[in-house]
Amino acid sequence: MTLDVSTEGPQRMLGKDGKTEFVIREATYRDLNDVIAINRKVLPENYPNWFFVEHLEQFPKAFIVAEVGGRVVGYVMSRVEYGWSNVNKGKAVRRGHIVSVGVLPEARRLGIATAMMLRAMKAMKIYYGASEVYLEVRVSNTPAISLYEKLGYKIVGRIPRYYSDGEDAFLMACPL
Ligand SMILES: CC(C)(COP(=O)(O)OP(=O)(O)OC[C@H]1O[C@@H](n2cnc3c(N)ncnc32)[C@H](O)[C@@H]1OP(=O)(O)O)[C@@H](O)C(=O)NCCC(=O)NCCS
Repeated sequence: MTLDVSTEGPQRMLGKDGKTEFVIREATYRDLNDVIAINRKVLPENYPNWFFVEHLEQFPKAFIVAEVGGRVVGYVMSRVEYGWSNVNKGKAVRRGHIVSVGVLPEARRLGIATAMMLRAMKAMKIYYGASEVYLEVRVSNTPAISLYEKLGYKIVGRIPRYYSDGEDAFLMACPL
């Protein structure tokens, strides 16, 4: 998957249905209530409000939202950390971390998550110096795993009982 995407300003795009227009842009503080509502609706992993605020404060270029008709329908929240590479074992690197991604059910399969992820990944690379990116995903979450594989992520590990209900996570990573 090429990272040949813009990280400047709002980007207007056409969904894969050929008719739905959506806009990809950096999140602002005004979007956080919508982002938090989407997180609570589509994922069991919910965070306190300050957690979203902190990511927006620290990594605003890699906190991306999508709008359809002026309504926020999806988000990607990211961070960049210094740590051991998941791509080149034994090397310490700046690595991006996709913390949370969600799209409302009515706006799915249009390419919105793909577009938000690509922009967040590019921003992690060019603004925050990340050379790779990783994430955790439930081993049962076939749609998300398929999305990440299409973006170039590979399964590099499995974390037993990572989630509070006891489910394992796959660790997936991708060079930037
Ligand atoms: C996973 C999620 C973010 C995908 O959002 P989306 O905007 O629909 O994704 P895209 O349209 O960009 O889809 C890209 C690819 O992902 C895969 N995919 C997405 N939804 C899928 C589904 N329901 N079943 C199988 N594959 C799916 C497909 O490979 C798809 O490509 P295709 O449509 O050409 O077949 C969305 O389903 C969601 O919010 N799910 C709940 C929250 C969640 O699981 N987040 C990830 C936690 S790690």
